[in-house]
Amino acid sequence: MCLTIPAKVLSVEDPHSDVPLKRITIRDSKGERLITALLPDLKAGDWVLYASDMAVTKIGEDDAREILDLLEPKSQIDLSQLDSAFLGILRACHTRELKREEIIRLLGTEDKTETDALFSEANTIRQANLKDFFCIHGIVEFSNQCIRNCFYCGLRRESKDVCRYRMTPDEIVSSVDDAVTRRGYKLIVLQSGDDFSYTDDMLAGIIRRIKERCKVFIFMSVGERGLESYKRMKDAGASGVLFRFETSNKAIYDSIHPGQSYEDRIAHLRGMKEMGYYIATGFLIGLPGQTVADIADDIRTLKTIGANMVTVGPFIPCNGTPMYSHPAGSAAMTLKVTAVARLLMPRAKIPVTTALETIESEEGRRLGLSSGANSLMFNLTPERHRVDYRIYPNKYHGKEEVWEKYGLFKEGLSYKMLEKKMFEAFEAQG
Ligand code: 5AD
Repeated sequence: MCLTIPAKVLSVEDPHSDVPLKRITIRDSKGERLITALLPDLKAGDWVLYASDMAVTKIGEDDAREILDLLEPKSQIDLSQLDSAFLGILRACHTRELKREEIIRLLGTEDKTETDALFSEANTIRQANLKDFFCIHGIVEFSNQCIRNCFYCGLRRESKDVCRYRMTPDEIVSSVDDAVTRRGYKLIVLQSGDDFSYTDDMLAGIIRRIKERCKVFIFMSVGERGLESYKRMKDAGASGVLFRFETSNKAIYDSIHPGQSYEDRIAHLRGMKEMGYYIATGFLIGLPGQTVADIADDIRTLKTIGANMVTVGPFIPCNGTPMYSHPAGSAAMTLKVTAVARLLMPRAKIPVTTALETIESEEGRRLGLSSGANSLMFNLTPERHRVDYRIYPNKYHGKEEVWEKYGLFKEGLSYKMLEKKMFEAFEAQG
């Protein structure tokens, strides 16, 4: 489902006529304008959510203000204060690919005017390409068992104080069913550790059962299982994968992923892309030895892989792991990466990651959404398992009610729209 910007109704043309379609004047941050409404009993002083010049639903004033607070960028930028070379880079991204040095320059800035200008540019590009729709997707973390031993992850094989769980196929299917039919979700990620006790047959069966019951896009996030396994899941009806490459610096990758290799990771992504999967991928910020140049290369790797969705989050230290005393990744860098990714990939889906919300809470969500991100990923894991899916501690759970309450496009028809958008994304990227 989606959320869009609220606006106050200033006047309704011909309020007492029986014509269902009314012209109304609204005011939002961009000023006053005339749009259309298909809402009975609308009057001056009401608040509406609108998109593409059509008011789609009425909304209470308090909720409208809460959403506005979250979605409206706050800072005003004085471009005359900006370094001309920096401004030149922001302008150049509209006409050509940015060079590595230029990306490094954007990411390297710690100047407030420059970062504000970067965020504002990213926000403008998001708005121009994706309108004011902010999408909400869900994630069901169905098993926290993992055979890998990644140094940063709280669910690594050697983490002893984790209460391990596995949801049964029936539980997984019914969680997704509930999220789709009762709550209106249209895209759900099924995530687990690298847990081979779910055979390919089982995963394919789960996907098939969900697709038979509900109109939903399923993204699999189940780790390195080999391409044959991903082929089976695709044939069963999975649309996408969420599979981070974590870092594009091979030396760093190999040093924190014992028994795994960077080449295998990338080979998975390339194979999945070839199979026609919608690719959600990204990396961690704040890994040991990672430089700004590495992060610039990470962003470029997103492009070479052909990512459709970008997922980038700060590393958060988790007790009981080898990286417990390594400092957390920077929220400021995460926001800059979000913005630069938006400059380079104007139409990509970019969710605000839970890790950013965890270190910055609601403010992280607000800043992410005004720095180029266009979606959120809500946790739909059954309550009893959530605390145990402890990739890192104190995972954030935010104010989700208002989004679910006013989420647009919950009905079946919107599945078709999303399908069309995904198809267009593939066409655009080849
Ligand atoms: N901090 C932040 N993100 C983490 N992940 C795993 N451990 C951590 C951590 N300590 C991320 C990885 C993985 C995703 C499922 O969670 O990037 O791909």
